[in-house]
Amino acid sequence: MENQQKVKNLIDLRSQARLGGGEKRIASQHTKGKFTARERIDMLLDEGSFEELDMFVTHRCHNFGLENEKYMGDGVVTGHGTIDGRTVYVFAQDFTVFGGSLSETNALKICKVMDMAMKMGCPFIGINDSGGARIQEGVTSLAGYAEIFQRNIMASGVIPQISAIFGPCAGGAVYSPALTDFVLMTEQNSYMFVTGPKVVKSVTGEDITTEDLGGADVHAGKSGVSHFKVENEEEGLLMIRKLLSYLPQNNLEDAPLFDTNDPIDRIEDSLNTIVPNSPNLPYDMKNVIHTIVDNGEFLEVHRNYARNIIVGFARFNGTSTGIIANQPNFLAGVLDCDASRKAARFVRFCDAFNIPILTLVDVPGFLPGSGQEYSGIIIHGAKLMFAYGEATVPKVTVTLRKSYGGAHDVMSCKQLRGDFNYAWPSAEIAVMGASGAIEVLEGRTMSAIVNPDEKAKYMAEQVADYNEKFANPYQAAAYGYIDDVIEPRNTRFRIIRAFETLQTKKVTNPLKKHSNIPL
Ligand code: HXC
Repeated sequence: MENQQKVKNLIDLRSQARLGGGEKRIASQHTKGKFTARERIDMLLDEGSFEELDMFVTHRCHNFGLENEKYMGDGVVTGHGTIDGRTVYVFAQDFTVFGGSLSETNALKICKVMDMAMKMGCPFIGINDSGGARIQEGVTSLAGYAEIFQRNIMASGVIPQISAIFGPCAGGAVYSPALTDFVLMTEQNSYMFVTGPKVVKSVTGEDITTEDLGGADVHAGKSGVSHFKVENEEEGLLMIRKLLSYLPQNNLEDAPLFDTNDPIDRIEDSLNTIVPNSPNLPYDMKNVIHTIVDNGEFLEVHRNYARNIIVGFARFNGTSTGIIANQPNFLAGVLDCDASRKAARFVRFCDAFNIPILTLVDVPGFLPGSGQEYSGIIIHGAKLMFAYGEATVPKVTVTLRKSYGGAHDVMSCKQLRGDFNYAWPSAEIAVMGASGAIEVLEGRTMSAIVNPDEKAKYMAEQVADYNEKFANPYQAAAYGYIDDVIEPRNTRFRIIRAFETLQTKKVTNPLKKHSNIPL
């Protein structure tokens, strides 16, 4: 064969490979409102930057007549490209080939790009749309999954790992996304569960739909498995690009620094009155966040899960910063099991990837009751405490209003190595709220007062006295637990200056194999 013909053959082979499982299956994918693996990668990456690898790989299975059915690429598209000019490694499962199911060779392809992402110190993105283990291959497929899991584990804390779920993700296949840093699901078409509705029915008798068992609403709102719920794939892919703009390439680098035209000393008078005079009235902490960050831009993570705490990324003077903030607008911003776990994981992510942490505090305490105790609030609260105490990145804390009891300690207090701990004049930092404290301290005296009016009067006097003494930031400031009481309108400037001072911070934890965080 002449060389020219060989080149033509190559071009033909490439075209054939790009068709995956063929035009009919591509059309079926489109009918479902889904894009193909290659279309997704093209939308995700900078135009023309994708370099595909292993396009000619085919499976090696001889069971069930599979040797007669081979598709180049074998159900997964892998390679590298750039996002905003920075290299990332990707795989996208190709549902048009055996339902994107994972074969031995398919797993080898994924592992190859994972290894390269690690070697080059680049983020790794997986787009999942698969019927799970390739049934005809049996145990080699299971081994393939485990190879991927092991790599997910080794890459954790070294390179950012992001999983998009754009179709089925069931059985043990769910564990690769679960091991990554961020999981994103589309409202339609995506689902994740360990066992599907049919097995659930036969084992437990429960009748449940796919959507109700493992749809995006379930995982973004109830289980917390998914960090982002997006309307469609386009939005999801844009979200990945945006998310990466806040992240470094790996744990040895810093996130990219952005130019900003937002003045660092921007004064916001509205902040002086944003906290209501009554401690029982809520306000939206997101308004505070939007007001103080660069250009009001905040990428919220886990928006629909444990809404009593807010976590997400923003920038201060162009520097990517992780924000953790109690939300008085939801359950009064109380810390419960879900909120503690959500925030703890976020703190650890930021710490692993050199992203400074800002904590905004308005927390009435831990949620009391048997429900929370039985669910292990002790262990979950300890996770958040552990995460903050272990974190060595710059940590700035601003207490806006309540900071009571154990929750005060947990929310990045001074003794958990908070670098700068500021408070607004509206801050209330104490062991507990006034009425609870007076019930304990004055219970005997009050029960001796028979007249209800007198009792109420006495209680009110005691509460006022307690509030006078403790419902302010000055007792904590007198001990140096609060570094300064600041004017709310200056908050942006004070935060930026604090983080700039902390750029040279160096703290290391004692050498150990690893810590034993209360999981
Ligand atoms: C081989 C598979 C497959 C699989 C789908 N296909 N899943 N081939 N192994 N696991 C093939 C189908 O035969 C079909 O081939 C094509 O993919 C599209 O599948 P459809 O069923 O037509 O599509 P749809 O109606 O959209 O249904 C999608 C589906 C369903 C819900 C995912 O295919 C399904 O239930 N598949 C099996 C899921 C499963 O039980 N997987 C194993 C889970 S256990 P043709 O030729 O017709 O196009 C597991 C363990 C992992 O994954 C453990 C890790 C530790």
